[in-house]
Amino acid sequence: MVGAGRLAEAFCRAMVLTPGSNAHLSIHARSPEKSRSWTGALNIPVFHRVEDWPPNPGWVFLAVPDSALSGMPDLLADAALGPDTLVWHAAGAVPLEAIQARAGQRAYRHAVAWPMMSFAGGENNTLDWTEVPWCLEGAADALDHMEALLKPLGGRMQRSDARQRKQLHLAAVWANNFPAYCFGVAAALLREQGIPQDMMLPIIRQSALRLTGQGDPFDWLTGPALRGDAPTMQAHLELMQDHPEWAALYRSLSAAIAGRAKGAADVADPAPTAPED
Ligand SMILES: NC(=O)c1ccc[n+]([C@@H]2O[C@H](COP(=O)([O-])OP(=O)(O)OC[C@H]3O[C@@H](n4cnc5c(N)ncnc54)[C@H](OP(=O)(O)O)[C@@H]3O)[C@@H](O)[C@H]2O)c1
Repeated sequence: MVGAGRLAEAFCRAMVLTPGSNAHLSIHARSPEKSRSWTGALNIPVFHRVEDWPPNPGWVFLAVPDSALSGMPDLLADAALGPDTLVWHAAGAVPLEAIQARAGQRAYRHAVAWPMMSFAGGENNTLDWTEVPWCLEGAADALDHMEALLKPLGGRMQRSDARQRKQLHLAAVWANNFPAYCFGVAAALLREQGIPQDMMLPIIRQSALRLTGQGDPFDWLTGPALRGDAPTMQAHLELMQDHPEWAALYRSLSAAIAGRAKGAADVADPAPTAPED
């Protein structure tokens, strides 16, 4: 593994604790002392110099920030990799080609395995890896290797091309990052009135559970924007006078919802067309 951050720690814990993973892990870290507590507990050796890596590793997981991935082939130029070594990254939005061997460099296989999950740190002992969907990209032989490596963790694996991965990544921003911001706003509004934030848990859970069916989430929309209830929306905006950025988001999401409601009404009640001659 290169990198010892949030995903590296979660992944190493899972591999060490999963029967059948057969992983003899070692880590390359810029600042080995930072990760000493968990690498020591898991008995994983940490290297600081590429020249010290064990020769001919089966795979190298580049668990570094997206911005550092394009520099990894230069780092790997000094590593004793074999032609069958699988080098992979886990970024949703970085092209596969970013990590391929440079001209004149020893060749290796390369692939992407992006876990569509959030690793914020601290949840490592509770995460159920069988629930983690992996989006895989690469040549067929690299993907066979990738799937064999990840199989013991038990997650769902989805082969994709570059365009599909980009779109999946965008979908994840809508499905996770934006709702997380909205949950933050909702929790802050509750806090301002001394109401515990777990009051919203059932309604959030209900939305998430509905997704297990195959229906269109747009069909579940309810609320004042869908109903065109202007007085209620005005009252809400007044409650957010001290939070103009929340009010701006409220306006723009309400307009999008109202637009859908209007579109549906137009389909149900199409405007009369001129009679044909
Ligand atoms: N976290 C998530 O939720 C998540 C989810 C899916 C995919 N991913 C992907 O996983 C990868 C790692 O993300 P992360 O969240 O685990 O990052 P992170 O917590 O920031 O950890 C990054 C690690 O890389 C090291 N590093 C940074 N620049 C380096 C360089 N130039 N050379 C060698 N090591 C370097 C850092 O070392 P220092 O501590 O010394 O800086 C740190 O150990 C990214 O590609 C990300 O897109 C993350």
